[in-house]
Amino acid sequence: MKSIAKPFVKWVGGKGQLLNQLENHIPKDIYEQEFTYIEPFVGGGAMLFFMLQKFPNIKRAVINDINQNLIDAYINIKENAEGLVYRLKHIERQYSSITDYEKQKTFYLEMRRKFNEEKLTSIDKTAILIFLNRTCFNGLYRENSKGKFNVPFGKYTNPTICNEELIYADSELLNQFDVEILCGDFVETASKVDEKGLNFFYLDPPYRPLSSTSSFNSYVKEVFDDGEQNRLRYFCHEINQKKSLFLLSNSDPHNINPNDNFFDELYANYHISRISANRSVNSNASKRGKINELLIDNFYHVNYIPSIVIYDSYSLLGNIERKVDLGKITIDKKRLSYANPIYSDTVDNIVYNFHIEGWLPIWVDDDYCIRDGQHRYAAAKQMGLKYIDVLKLNYETLANEKYNSKYYKSKLKEKYLIS
Ligand SMILES: C[S@@+](CC[C@H](N)C(=O)[O-])C[C@H]1O[C@@H](n2cnc3c(N)ncnc32)[C@H](O)[C@@H]1O
Repeated sequence: MKSIAKPFVKWVGGKGQLLNQLENHIPKDIYEQEFTYIEPFVGGGAMLFFMLQKFPNIKRAVINDINQNLIDAYINIKENAEGLVYRLKHIERQYSSITDYEKQKTFYLEMRRKFNEEKLTSIDKTAILIFLNRTCFNGLYRENSKGKFNVPFGKYTNPTICNEELIYADSELLNQFDVEILCGDFVETASKVDEKGLNFFYLDPPYRPLSSTSSFNSYVKEVFDDGEQNRLRYFCHEINQKKSLFLLSNSDPHNINPNDNFFDELYANYHISRISANRSVNSNASKRGKINELLIDNFYHVNYIPSIVIYDSYSLLGNIERKVDLGKITIDKKRLSYANPIYSDTVDNIVYNFHIEGWLPIWVDDDYCIRDGQHRYAAAKQMGLKYIDVLKLNYETLANEKYNSKYYKSKLKEKYLIS
């Protein structure tokens, strides 16, 4: 029987254990129509192989990772599975003929040296990568600051070095969907969006460490710090603008510090769920308890965020009306108090900072025509809100204001039939 395709390497942060929970959080739309699947941090590809088997309606798939050796392995599996199996079998024969632990370790260290220092063909390098992954400590892939693989030898009895069936099954799937395999920074995948169709991104970046010592996130020599998490937030914003759907995994700082709202603030305008996960990054078994992880998405739409009303004087100017349909609001330049153009960076800033600075009601007149707050209105639209709070100004206030008072004075006359 054909084996089911799954990761050909063990990878830190691998999502094999979480697939059932991830499945519960994928968007409903992708069950109903063709779509493009994009995974910018593919790692071992647990989600990729799951998706390719579950959704025959994937029209196009794109994977990416910054780790060149890993990406070369995907390419070799896709393009030359036979050559890879041949080489892995050869290494397997050599390794299994050694019975002494110290000699196995010497063999491992020699392979590691070759991998780091020798000029190898791509397929030979992939074969060694898989061998190292099967025999190294905890199946980690970790590089030092010079970009050299530096994981020590592990203690496994009879590790499977060549899983032929698995390699062929993975290869078949990568070819069946003609998966596009890229090596680079995650931001580059934004250009792969199919502008005319449905796109779904699964984002599984290096997790933000829960404490300075507890977590591993150095897959490659480049570090993934809070600045990178911020950059990823902007990327999410970009693909959200392109109407792509995304689901993003990360660690939950609340496991350690309930006051650390880093992600709650960063992704305040998206939907955040907390799921229970059995993480095994920690090599100390006693520290491997159940902890929460975050799932962040842009498809369970939050369509209303109530504003804060901080000025008492509002009641003198008009009435606060809650949850007004955004579609009911219009803009008429001559009625705006400041008819300045709408700057997209100002709108972005409001979207990004609104959780810190608060969300003020938009000022409108009787016809729900904006008097003040056109940037907030644009931001609310950008955030996908359907409703918004408004301060409905009375005509007396409007007629007394120095801007556009002529217009409102005439309205006031019309309304009260005064001369
Ligand atoms: C949490 S792992 C992904 C695990 C994967 N989902 C799995 O099931 O094995 C994160 C991956 O992001 C990659 N990575 C780190 N920085 C990156 C960047 N700037 N752009 C793209 N990939 C990056 C790492 O090489 C690593 O493979």
